[in-house]
Amino acid sequence: MRTPIVVAILTIFSVLSSSPPAAAQTAGPEAAGSVEAVGAAEGDSLTAPAVLDDLSPEPRVVEVELTAAPARLSLLPGTETDVFAYNGSVPGPTLDVWEGDSVVVRFRNDLPEPTTIHWHGLHLPFTADGSPFHPVEPGEVYEYAFRIPEGTAGTYWYHPHPNHRTTWQIGKGLFGAVIVRDPDDPLPDSITERLLILADNRFRPDGSLDFPEPGSREARIDEENGREGGALFVNGQIMPSVPIRSGEVQRWRVINASGARVYRLSLPGHTFLHVGSDGGLFEHPVEREEILLANTERVEILVRGEGDPGSTAVLQDLPYDRYRPLTRPDGWDETRSLLTLRYTDEARIESPPIPDRLRPVPSIDPAEATATRVMRLSQGRINGQLMDMDRVDVRASLGSTEIWELRNLVGMDHPFHLHGFRFQVISRNGEPVPFRSWKDTVNVPARETVRFVVRYDDYPGMWMFHCHIVDHEDMGMMGILEVR
Ligand code: C2O
Ligand code: CU
Ligand code: CU
Repeated sequence: MRTPIVVAILTIFSVLSSSPPAAAQTAGPEAAGSVEAVGAAEGDSLTAPAVLDDLSPEPRVVEVELTAAPARLSLLPGTETDVFAYNGSVPGPTLDVWEGDSVVVRFRNDLPEPTTIHWHGLHLPFTADGSPFHPVEPGEVYEYAFRIPEGTAGTYWYHPHPNHRTTWQIGKGLFGAVIVRDPDDPLPDSITERLLILADNRFRPDGSLDFPEPGSREARIDEENGREGGALFVNGQIMPSVPIRSGEVQRWRVINASGARVYRLSLPGHTFLHVGSDGGLFEHPVEREEILLANTERVEILVRGEGDPGSTAVLQDLPYDRYRPLTRPDGWDETRSLLTLRYTDEARIESPPIPDRLRPVPSIDPAEATATRVMRLSQGRINGQLMDMDRVDVRASLGSTEIWELRNLVGMDHPFHLHGFRFQVISRNGEPVPFRSWKDTVNVPARETVRFVVRYDDYPGMWMFHCHIVDHEDMGMMGILEVR
């Protein structure tokens, strides 16, 4: 039963390791200023990770198998790298489900160390959350069982969440996408959908993953900034190309699976129609010149093929200064290239109409809040404390609504994430945000304050909240919310 997955993986990696097609293209004027990182200008077509096979004969029940194990794969053309992989691939296979489905994931840990799988952004029981409270030991099997609630269609992801080892395990290759679909999705079926999982990594010249020696200067800089790398991958590929026909509209689900890199996306000659964020579609589309995607955030955007037949455009990551001046990495202010949008030679077609009403986003009324939780974010700490598995930081009752006020006291950004419950941002620095959307992570820029409202509408348990620069999380920039 695992054969189709294996075949798909082989296809992905044979595509990766084959030499670039003859018309070795890219590097038009649009790509100027991009970092000629490892193996840029590949030009192979973007492939999507395999979708997990549903082994259940029952309708509305999805049963899948995932194994985490060491593997040796070609991540960079011409070299091999020792990685950790879900079902043998990086990124791991996609969990693709519908609202209302009951999901069982039979997970086997074949790694030489404990791990967990956290279903980032999903609303599920405490025992299925894959938080540090439920480590899975080497050789053990763990069943994650949860139901996908109605109204939660969107783009999510999964990754390990063991205490203090998340940076290492994600960096080694453990991450994959989750797509939750809505039977009444408002966007026309004729729109091609693409998944883009953005991840970066750092390599040594021999192709091995570069993690700094503990205690070294490099390690201290990583602890400060979070570990970034110069190789930028989209679905495990470097600078793939995405074909589009002039006039065509594509729906891109973009996941920032990087441990620390924040992407500022821009597509010269095009604007994005921003239709959704972490927890799915907005009420109305919004036109954007660029999109800031902090780590672990997701967006859904419509890319409209406004270019001429035969032309190209490069999806760029523009510089974004999230750093403290002393530890800004070299090259932080350079524009990087992610992929080439390649127009086919076919004549322009008429674009499908995009509805202005997408789906309702019911409001959580801040007036119903019974408490305001103030979180002071400093470098590596929340309210002056490091995370302690035996300490509950916030106690709340099931069903209550609360406001969280996140105050970033320091000179670098901290993207703040809450497990278990999606929330709605209500203000930034006291200014109300223009519209509602479902979020599970919000970037709190240096010295700014963000407020959100949340309702703990189900599932008692112990829920983590933390900075999603995973190095900060590992160092203890995390706390525990107990809901009962
Ligand atoms: Cu993706 Cu606790 O996080
Ligand atoms: Cu999470
Ligand atoms: Cu942080």
